[in-house]
Amino acid sequence: MVPPLISLLPWLQNYLSFLFFSSTTIFFLFTLLLVLLRSRPWCNCHVCKAYLSSSWTAEFTNLCDWYTHLLRQSPTRTIHIHVLDNTVTADPANVEYMLQTRFDNFPKGKPFSSILGDLLGRGIFNVDGDTWQFQRKMASLELGSLSVRSHAFRIVSTEVRRRLIPLLTSASSDGRVIDLQDVFRRLAFDNICKISFGLDPGCLEASLPISEFAAAFDTASRLSARRATAVAPALWKLKRILNVGSERELRRVIGLVNVLADEVIRQKRKHGVASSDDLLSRFMCSVNDDRYLRDITISFLLAGRDTVASGLTSFFLLLSKHPAVTAAIRDEIADVMRGTGDDEVASLEQLKEMHYVHAAMYETLRVYPPVQFDSKYCVEDDTLPDGSLVRKGTRVTYHPYAMGRMESIWGPDCEEFKPERWLRDGKFVPASPFKYPVFQAGVRVCLGKEMALMEMKTIVVSVVPRFDVQVLDVGRSPKFAAGLTASIDGGLPAQVRRRSSGPRGHGAC
Ligand code: HEM
Repeated sequence: MVPPLISLLPWLQNYLSFLFFSSTTIFFLFTLLLVLLRSRPWCNCHVCKAYLSSSWTAEFTNLCDWYTHLLRQSPTRTIHIHVLDNTVTADPANVEYMLQTRFDNFPKGKPFSSILGDLLGRGIFNVDGDTWQFQRKMASLELGSLSVRSHAFRIVSTEVRRRLIPLLTSASSDGRVIDLQDVFRRLAFDNICKISFGLDPGCLEASLPISEFAAAFDTASRLSARRATAVAPALWKLKRILNVGSERELRRVIGLVNVLADEVIRQKRKHGVASSDDLLSRFMCSVNDDRYLRDITISFLLAGRDTVASGLTSFFLLLSKHPAVTAAIRDEIADVMRGTGDDEVASLEQLKEMHYVHAAMYETLRVYPPVQFDSKYCVEDDTLPDGSLVRKGTRVTYHPYAMGRMESIWGPDCEEFKPERWLRDGKFVPASPFKYPVFQAGVRVCLGKEMALMEMKTIVVSVVPRFDVQVLDVGRSPKFAAGLTASIDGGLPAQVRRRSSGPRGHGAC
């Protein structure tokens, strides 16, 4: 005979399974309800309706232009998009508060980490706390050191002399149209790989080889950015679990990026890291975990490639529309480089003397910041200096693109491209980084700012005096493609013509 307790066991098992299943379901539904209540995806206000129906596209080319319009209209220069539970600000005092004063209350946070987690893992862009501090310390030691900067400068100058100028000269000879954005991406990719990993992918070789790595990286960045615009993140998470649609493609391209990043690390190990002074070698001396190294590698690629390429692309777009600025740049270069050989690239000291070029670069990044907006998450309920209440868990975004278009910050000529606004008596004078958070500002300010400016200026100073660059369809305002960094949809087709007056001449353009 079966003892009564044992006969009850199957029933008890079923009962417990039922209890477990139903409580999990109730918990899931309750969490979903809370998420929905917070983000109000049904919000009926005109801004949320326009966001959900995309009706803003009837009036504006880009989402960032529409946000600029909304922020300009707001008396506080701050808006809240209910369906995204996202506070967006263009007020410098708020920016200072979140990036400096209450830095601890506005970290990247978990939601951001999950959006970019598959691509960036534990890389510097995607972490807070100790993991972030460790990487920041290592990277700032490296990027701040004088010897590394000189090393980076040599790499950039060599790439310009050996690849960029020959490529543009050949495009000038046969009159073909080139995509400047593509050229600058290749250039920036070669440079960041050489500086960070000591390896040369040769993307800007004359044959313009297709880089599987770069292409996979582009798609991964585009699809990851798309996650951030979802009204209901649960949707992409579900697609990810089911491995369907864009999430399936994202998984595929991230797989490729990872394989190639692993290969970079393997190559480094093979050639030995002790004698190398690139960034990855430094990290490899203190980190043994290959996965972590891979995340670090990918973050630095993201940091150094698309941002610089974006800045250069915008620079030449703006120059094409402003011949007087082109002429002023040529005059300054001719003055500073008088007596320097025609085939030479400007030295670091000469670059420092070029205040107008520096101002034109800053002005370009004001008008077209490579990182158009950047978000943090509020840890505890808070009040921004303009009086906006921010609830715990809200996404808070500062918007450099809109800030560059604010009359309250830059005056009535804020829409004009005017390098002179950065000069006093011919010398460059910086603005508060909280008014101009193009490189972020405060505790987590960009670590590659000086290197990026050096790279972009070296390229500008080498190209502008030697070539006339004519962007096709210059009157059209740029339409930006979705991605983590601003890039122009369809690229920047242009024709280049070698100038007959020589690189140091004042010849007519
Ligand atoms: C025009 C070029 C550049 C612009 C506009 C730019 C802008 C930015 C911005 C807005 C951030 C903050 C991102 C965030 O926290 O979400 C950032 C962070 C960072 N940037 Fe740059 N960047 C540029 C070039 C570079 C280059 C060339 C490097 C490295 C070689 C670099 C290295 C970094 C690093 C390591 C961080 C992370 C800092 C941290 O989280 O502590 N950047 N940059």
